[in-house]
Amino acid sequence: MPSRPARYAVIGNPIAHSRSPEIHAAFAAQTGQVIEYGRLLAPVDGFVAAVDAFRAEGGLGLNVTLPFKPEAFAYARRRTPRAEIAGAVNTLAFDGDDVLGDNTDGPGLVADVQGRVGLALKGARVLLLGAGGATRGVVRPLLDAGVERLAIANRTASRATALRDELAARLHPADAARLSAGGLADLDGGFDAIINATAAGLSGESPALPPGAWRGAMLAFDMVYGPKPTAFMQAARAAGVPRVEDGLGMLVGQAAESFALWRGVRPDVAPVYAALRERLAGPA
Ligand code: ATR
Repeated sequence: MPSRPARYAVIGNPIAHSRSPEIHAAFAAQTGQVIEYGRLLAPVDGFVAAVDAFRAEGGLGLNVTLPFKPEAFAYARRRTPRAEIAGAVNTLAFDGDDVLGDNTDGPGLVADVQGRVGLALKGARVLLLGAGGATRGVVRPLLDAGVERLAIANRTASRATALRDELAARLHPADAARLSAGGLADLDGGFDAIINATAAGLSGESPALPPGAWRGAMLAFDMVYGPKPTAFMQAARAAGVPRVEDGLGMLVGQAAESFALWRGVRPDVAPVYAALRERLAGPA
């Protein structure tokens, strides 16, 4: 009798919009892995119960999305160093009593920028907009990729400096020295890449950057994605930034990192990204 496929899912609230099931189904087909990957809607106060039930039924791993990443961090018994610094977990792997928590958002971003987009991060000067969870999740992987300078800029400058100080205390001093923080108003260009990790796009807005902020930028990258360019992407294009990208490649990249952690096989992201992009642009 054939054994039941290994079970995985993405957990969140809401979850209906998640693209993760189709991404992981494509990875599985490509690599010949037999898995089942579903969507798990948990009540906002019911994360632990939902994960316990999933494990009891034999589930082997979960991707975790809003609003549960901090709870997944607490749920994990062991965490990767990048998850520790992020203070958030987007990937859980179960093995009996063992629960490993990882955060693959940053590696997904780094892989997409250096791979598909083709910008080498080693020696690059990078501006990261925002001081919430999305920023926190990618700081360490960007530093690990060898950026010369990483500046966090936020609408509320004090939140950026507080985040900088908190992260710097947990980083190697040489890494902490490459990390700076401030407000948006003082930005005056000089960055190779500008990455939007704010929630401004949720209300159809772009962070209010002074015109000089874009000077010299080769890449503007929004962590969110959709069928249409975001307000941040439109602002970057209007400012003449030559390469403007959304977060679809980062989404596929973080999924590939999770898949590799669970299955020990690294999928090829390019065809999966291309198919997803086509579906996203197609008729609704
Ligand atoms: P998350 O954990 O998803 O990043 P968050 O902790 O609420 O969410 O952080 C949202 C980030 O987006 C913050 O950096 C926020 O700036 P403030 O700290 O000044 O609030 C930023 N943000 C949200 N809306 C914004 C807007 N319209 N313009 C600029 N920044 C915005």
